[in-house]
Amino acid sequence: MRDILAELEAQRAAARAGGGERRIAAQHAKGKLTARERIELLLDEGSFEEFDMFVRHRCTDFGMQDERPAGDGVVTGWGTINGRMVYVFSQDFTVFGGSLSEAHAEKICKIMDMAIQNGAPVIGINDSGGARIQEGVASLAGYAAVFQRNILASGVVPQISLIMGPCAGGAVYSPAMTDFIFMVKDTSYMFVTGPEVVRTVTNEVVSAEELGGARTHTTRSSVADGAFENDVELLSEMRRLFDFLPLSNRGPVPVRPFFDDPARIEPSLDTLIPENPNQPYDIKELILKVADEGDFFEIQADFAANIVIGFIRIEGSTVGVVANQPMVLAGCLDIDASRKAARFVRFCDAFGIPILTFVDVPGFLPGTEQEYRGIIKHGAKLLFAYGEATVPKVTVLLRKCYGGAYVVMASKHLRGDFNYAWPTAEVAVMGAKGAVEILHRADRDDPERIARATREYEKRFANPFVAAERGFVDEVIMPHSTRRRVARAFASLRTKKLQNPWKKHDNMPL
Ligand code: HXC
Repeated sequence: MRDILAELEAQRAAARAGGGERRIAAQHAKGKLTARERIELLLDEGSFEEFDMFVRHRCTDFGMQDERPAGDGVVTGWGTINGRMVYVFSQDFTVFGGSLSEAHAEKICKIMDMAIQNGAPVIGINDSGGARIQEGVASLAGYAAVFQRNILASGVVPQISLIMGPCAGGAVYSPAMTDFIFMVKDTSYMFVTGPEVVRTVTNEVVSAEELGGARTHTTRSSVADGAFENDVELLSEMRRLFDFLPLSNRGPVPVRPFFDDPARIEPSLDTLIPENPNQPYDIKELILKVADEGDFFEIQADFAANIVIGFIRIEGSTVGVVANQPMVLAGCLDIDASRKAARFVRFCDAFGIPILTFVDVPGFLPGTEQEYRGIIKHGAKLLFAYGEATVPKVTVLLRKCYGGAYVVMASKHLRGDFNYAWPTAEVAVMGAKGAVEILHRADRDDPERIARATREYEKRFANPFVAAERGFVDEVIMPHSTRRRVARAFASLRTKKLQNPWKKHDNMPL
């Protein structure tokens, strides 16, 4: 008996050794942790239960029968983050470069199937040279099996991809179908075709970092939702994000202990909106002042900064925030902002996370660049996302609420539950200047008449009361009481029930 136990320990030790000391040292030399070290940092201490530690590949080509390491280049299993369950896979670059074989894919699929069945999120740590070259089409089939599960799991359990090394070729499409992608600066990259192929086909000379590094994907392509300095920072931030997320579409949003009075008054908000309507202010100040303990997990902070999205808690419960940012492009909605916010709204709706929207939007961004690239279709994504969302929706109109962009931003007309306005809100077809230019075109050379018409327009329309008269604004509130009003609104909506008509699925403007 003792021998058998010793044998088990020996086999476990061999599996844990991965690709061996030399390759582990190489991994560390690149500033990267190993697959197992990453899991240890991500999960609660001692909570990891491993599956399939002894799975080996079945390939016999290219002499592979002589090299069959236990685990086959991926560590899979489940554990907890602050006591809440999560399934994890972590590719081991020290074993065949973390490349994906048939057996490696089967291990990932097994935990994904369990995650869907049991209702817990999946976090995938990607660090791989792609398809296991020696296995050929069997490896491609393995990828496809993972893709299929990503699709089936979408909207059922949250899926998070951490890119912590190479992720290239078709392999990128598994992360692409998950809810969030986070990268590590300088040590991770994602591209469909690498710099060599790019050079051969298009004559463009570009480095891996420029083509698909963290900076590219967080600022240009928007493929990634955030990037961190190193493995340790990424993994600890993922623990923070995880605490905001429900375990599945069947579970409630998490509620954590809170020490911040929901009725907290913020007198500084009464002067947040500058006197001059052309002067910007930082919308994040409002978000932080409304959130429990000022805790805000921002998503896609470096892309389309004219809209801000992320998670906060109110009375301990997760709330998704969407807010126009007057500091960037005056808070206009453009293609990037619409896509960014639409996907976030859909994530929140899929997982029952209530949505808080702060509106200060002068309109859609004008110009040929936007029109030619299809702002019509892309802007409609956000409209569609808000309109189909059945989760509690609380909206606060702050200042400019003009035209179609006002309607899009979780207005009363799109089944907003509570639509509050600050006294500074201006709900109108457009701003006074634009309106007078159109209505008084004949007077354009008469500055006095123009000024008078502008004043008249401002008096009549630059306020929340015209909308409030019709019930499009439920109540005009004091800025300093925003947190209290919003908290009470969400509290009253905890029992909200709303269902859309039955359909196979919608045909949103993709
Ligand atoms: C088998 C692989 C491998 C692969 C790397 N290795 N990629 N083994 N299949 N795809 C092995 C190497 O032989 C090496 O083994 C070890 O992993 C580390 O690789 P190095 O090249 O030494 O590391 P590094 O210099 O850091 O370069 C990493 C790399 C490079 C950039 C990822 O290895 C590389 O270009 N690999 C091939 C990438 C690729 O073309 N993959 C297919 C993409 S297409 P030893 O024994 O020396 O340690 C694809 C299709 C998916 O993935 C389709 C989905 C539908």
